[in-house]
Amino acid sequence: MKPLIKKLVEAYGPSGYEDHLRDLIRAEIKGVPDYISVDPLGNLIAGLRSKAKSGKKVMLSAHMDEIGVMVNYVDEKGFCRFTPIGGVGTLTCLGGRVRFANGVTGVIGIEKRDDNSRVPTFEQLFIDVGATSHDDCPVKVGDAAGFVRAFEEHGDRLIAKTMDDRIGCAILIEALRALKRTPHEVAFVFSVQEEVGLRGAGVSAFGLEPDLGIAVDVTRTGDTPKGVKMEVALGRGPAIKVRDSGMLADPRIKNLLVKRAQEAKIPYQLEVLESGTTDAAAMQLARGGVPAGCISIPCRHIHTPSETVDFRDVQWAVKLLVETLEKPIEL
Ligand code: CO
Ligand code: ZN
Repeated sequence: MKPLIKKLVEAYGPSGYEDHLRDLIRAEIKGVPDYISVDPLGNLIAGLRSKAKSGKKVMLSAHMDEIGVMVNYVDEKGFCRFTPIGGVGTLTCLGGRVRFANGVTGVIGIEKRDDNSRVPTFEQLFIDVGATSHDDCPVKVGDAAGFVRAFEEHGDRLIAKTMDDRIGCAILIEALRALKRTPHEVAFVFSVQEEVGLRGAGVSAFGLEPDLGIAVDVTRTGDTPKGVKMEVALGRGPAIKVRDSGMLADPRIKNLLVKRAQEAKIPYQLEVLESGTTDAAAMQLARGGVPAGCISIPCRHIHTPSETVDFRDVQWAVKLLVETLEKPIEL
C-alpha cells in the first residue's frame, strides 16, 4: 500500500484541478469495480452494483483535492502575488516551494517587514519562479499551484504534504480491492473541491441518492505539545466521528462503525473535533437528508506540508471499511 500512498500524496491536485489525480486513481482501480464514471464537476465514481435485495445504497467519499495557491497578480519583475485555495496559513508558506500544473516550481518569499511580531498576511508574500519580468514569467494570473514535499517514512509514521486527503483516497482504493463480496450497492466517490467547501461531495450525494454515506478523511490529534484538547492520538486506531464543527454524525452510523470495529477487534477512537469538517457534512444535507458518518485518520500538522499519520491506523481503517461493507447494514 505504501507505493500507492507515495504516488497519491506527491501528485499535483489543488481544488478544481484534480484531473491528474483522477487519471492516477482511474488507472489504479481499472477493472475492479462494475463501472467507473465521472460526473460534471469531476468527481470520480467507482461503483459496485447490488447483488442482494436486502442491500443498501452506500456512498463513500474521500477527496482528491489539496490546499494550494493561485496567482492573482504578476508584477513587472516577474514576482507572483497569490491567494490561498482552501485553508492555507501564511506561517506554513514561508520558504516553501510550490509547483504549477505546467511543472514550474516557485519559492514563497516575504517582503521586509517592520513588525516581525505579527503573523504575516498573504499581501506580504510572493512566489519567486525565477522570472525577470512580467513578460517572461512562466506562470500567469489564474494559474494554481500545490505545495511540494517528498513523502517520508519514520517507522510507522508517514509524512506528506497531502495526507489530507490522499490517505483517504488510498484507503478507498485498498478497500475496493479487498472487498470480496458485498450485499450493498457501493459508490466509491473520489471527490473534488472539498477544501473550498465540500462542493464535490454535495453534488455527488444529490446525484447518487444513497441510503447512507461514510466519508474517509483526516482529523486532528491532541497528542502534540500544548495542542488542542482532544483524546485522539496517532497509532490508536481510526477515529469514528461523533461530531465536528460541520456535523453531528448520525448515531446509527457511528454505532454501526463501533460495532463492526469491536466484532473484528479493530482498535478505534471516538472523535469530537472542534474545528473542521468533511464530505460527510455535505452528504448529510443532500436532497431530503442522508444518514452520514465518517472514519477519520488521526493526523498531526494538518494543512502544513508535513501532515503525519500512522500506517497502522491506515491499515485498520481499510479493515473497518471492508468489515462494514461485507456485512448487512440495519439502520
Ligand atoms: Co483539509
Ligand atoms: Zn480533508
